[in-house]
Amino acid sequence: MVLVVGGAGYIGSHFVRHLVRSGQSVRVFDNLEKGHRAAIDSAEIVIGDLRQPDAILPALEGIRTVVHFAAYSEVGEGERSPLAFYENNVVGTFHLVRAMRDRGVSQIVFSSTAAVYGEPESNSLSETHRTMPTSVYGRTKLAVEKMLEDCDRAHGIRSVRLRYFNAAGADANGDHGEDHTPESHLIPLVIQAALGRRPEIKVFGTDYPTADGTCVRDYVHVEDLASAHELAVQHLEKGGLSQTFNLGTGVGYSVRQVIQCVDQVIGAEVPATDSDRRPGDPSTLIADPSAINRAWGWAAKHSRLEQIVEDAVRWHRDHPVGYRD
Ligand SMILES: NC(=O)c1ccc[n+]([C@@H]2O[C@H](COP(=O)([O-])OP(=O)(O)OC[C@H]3O[C@@H](n4cnc5c(N)ncnc54)[C@H](O)[C@@H]3O)[C@@H](O)[C@H]2O)c1
Repeated sequence: MVLVVGGAGYIGSHFVRHLVRSGQSVRVFDNLEKGHRAAIDSAEIVIGDLRQPDAILPALEGIRTVVHFAAYSEVGEGERSPLAFYENNVVGTFHLVRAMRDRGVSQIVFSSTAAVYGEPESNSLSETHRTMPTSVYGRTKLAVEKMLEDCDRAHGIRSVRLRYFNAAGADANGDHGEDHTPESHLIPLVIQAALGRRPEIKVFGTDYPTADGTCVRDYVHVEDLASAHELAVQHLEKGGLSQTFNLGTGVGYSVRQVIQCVDQVIGAEVPATDSDRRPGDPSTLIADPSAINRAWGWAAKHSRLEQIVEDAVRWHRDHPVGYRD
C-alpha cells in the first residue's frame, strides 16, 4: 500500500485518484490545513500533522512506499515566515523520515521544485544545473533533498526527488481541481479574472528579455505529474536506486500567452494591467526533462497549454467556491 502524505492537496489528490483508478490501494495522511477532504473522494485518510513528532506512526502501518507532497509552498509567505516554513517543510519531513526508519519503510518519493535552482544560468535547466535557491521555500526543499541523500547512505532509505516546474490543470472529469486560499498561481488567477471573480490580473514585469517581455514558465499538467509519480513508485518497488528528476515539458509560455489562451478558451477578454517586476522572479524557467524520459520513458502527454487551460476552466467555471469546505 502507498501512503500519500499531503494527499488531500492539489497535486497529491490528483495522484491519489490516479492510483485509485488503476486499482491500487492507497492511504492519505493530511492535516487538511490546505487540503480538502472532498478532493480524495472515498480514499482512506488519517488526519494528522507531520509537525507532531509521532502523528505519522499509525499511518505507516502496512506501507511500502511513501509519496510526500505535504509542505508550505507559497513563496512570499516563506519570506515573511521562514520559521513556519522550516518547521513544516524540514522538521515535518524529519519526523516522517525518522518514523520511516524506525518502522522499516525504506522508499519515498518527494515533491521538490524548480525553485532549488535559483537564478537560472541557462534557458533550459537540467538536473546538473547548480542549486542555489533564492527563496526560503527553495532552501527548505533543497534541505530535504540533502536529508534524503544522507538517509540513503546511512539508513538505506531510497528516494526519488521530483523537481516540478509549474503544476497546472485539473482532472478531465471536471470535478477536481486547484483550490488554494489564497491562490498565487498564474493560471487559476487569470481564469478567475476572466470569469469576473477577480477585478483584474497584474502582469508583473513587461521588460524581461523574452519575446513579449513577460516571464516565461514551463507548465506541467497534474495528470502528467501523477503518471511520473506512479513510475517513481514502481521504480522504488523494483529496488531502483535513488534519483533526482525534473518534471516539466521543455516548452515555456509567457504570461501574455497564458492570458491569450484563457481569452480564447473562455471567449472573454481577461482584464489585465501591466505592473513592475517582482523581486526574485527569473525571466525564464524551463525544464530539460530528458533525464526522466531516458530513464523511464516519461514525457508530458496532457500539458499543451490549451488542454491545461480547458481542463482548469471546466473546474473553475463549475466550482466558483472550489470544494466548498
Ligand atoms: N503547485 C506547484 O506548482 C508546485 C511546484 C513545485 C513543487 N510543488 C510541491 O508540490 C507539493 C504539493 O503542492 P500543492 O500545490 O499540491 O500544495 P497543496 O498546499 O495544495 O497541498 C499540500 C497538502 O499537504 C498538507 N499538509 C501541509 N503541511 C502538512 C503537515 N504538517 N501535516 C500534514 N499535512 C500537511 C496540506 O493540508 C495540503 O493538503 C508541495 O510540496 C509543493 O512544494 C508544487
